[in-house]
Amino acid sequence: MVPAMARNKLDDTAASFGFREVRPEERQGLVNQVFATVADRYDLMNDLMSGGMHRLWKEELVTVLNPPKSEQRFELIDVAGGTADISLRMLRKGGPGCRAVVCDISPEMLRVGRSKVEAEGRSEQVSLVQGNAEALPFPDRSFDAYTIAFGIRNVTHIDVALKEAFRVLKPGGHFLCLEFSECQVPMLDNLYDLHSFQVIPRLGQLVGTGAEPYRYLVESIRKFPPQEPFAGMIREAGFERVTWRNLTGGIAAIHSGWRI
Ligand SMILES: C[S@@+](CC[C@H](N)C(=O)[O-])C[C@H]1O[C@@H](n2cnc3c(N)ncnc32)[C@H](O)[C@@H]1O
Repeated sequence: MVPAMARNKLDDTAASFGFREVRPEERQGLVNQVFATVADRYDLMNDLMSGGMHRLWKEELVTVLNPPKSEQRFELIDVAGGTADISLRMLRKGGPGCRAVVCDISPEMLRVGRSKVEAEGRSEQVSLVQGNAEALPFPDRSFDAYTIAFGIRNVTHIDVALKEAFRVLKPGGHFLCLEFSECQVPMLDNLYDLHSFQVIPRLGQLVGTGAEPYRYLVESIRKFPPQEPFAGMIREAGFERVTWRNLTGGIAAIHSGWRI
C-alpha cells in the first residue's frame, strides 16, 4: 500500500525520483537512464502494465484534440513523445494537412519512435527532435496544439515545462496533458495500489528490464499532483478555460487548456 505521505504533491524546489529525494540537477539523468533501459520494450510494457488501457486513454486524448480532417494545416508538438504513439494516432485520425513534431529528451526512445514512423510511411509528416520539455528548441507561437502523454511527471520543473508549452503555442492553441492522476473510486484505488506496487515491478523482471525502472514509474505517479492542483499549475502558466476529465475513475486524467 502507498503510505499517505507518498501521495504528497511535488513542490517546486523538491526533486523526487520516485519516493527518493534527490538533488534537482541529478534527477533528469536518473529519469533518462530509466527510459534508455526500457525503450525497446516500452510499448510492450505499456500494454502489460495497463492491460491495454493506455490505448483507450490515448485514443480519448486524440478525440479531444480533434485534428482537422481537411487539408487545413495543423501542427502538433507532442512533448515527451517517446515512441511517437500520440503523433501516429493523431495522423491516422486527421487529414492530409496534419503534421507532428515528436520532441523527447531520450535518444533511445526517439530511435524506437523513428522506426515506427518509418514503418508506417509517415516520415514526411513527422519530425523527431531531441529536446527538453523545459527548454523547447522551437520559436514562440509555432504550434496549433501541444500534447504531453505520461511525460510531465518525469520533468524536474513542471512549472517551467508548462510555461514552455504556453510559449510555443499559437494564440488559440490547445494544450492537452494525459497523465496518471488520483484514483477517486473507493476499492478501485486499493486494487490499483496492489497492481502498481506488486504486479508491475514483477512484469518488468519478466520482460527482462528489471524491476527498478518500473518502481520509479509507479512511485512517480504517486508523487504527481492530483487533478485540481495540477489544473491550478496549468492556469498559473497562463492557460485559460482549464478543465479535466477523469479516465477509469481518475487513474488517469486529461487536462485541457487554451492559449487565448
Ligand atoms: C512514460 S514515457 C511516455 C512516452 C509517450 N508520450 C507515450 O505516452 O507513450 C515518458 C517520456 O518522457 C520523456 N522525458 C522525460 N523527461 C523529459 C524532459 N525533460 N523533456 C522531454 N522528454 C522527457 C522520456 O524520455 C520518455 O520518452
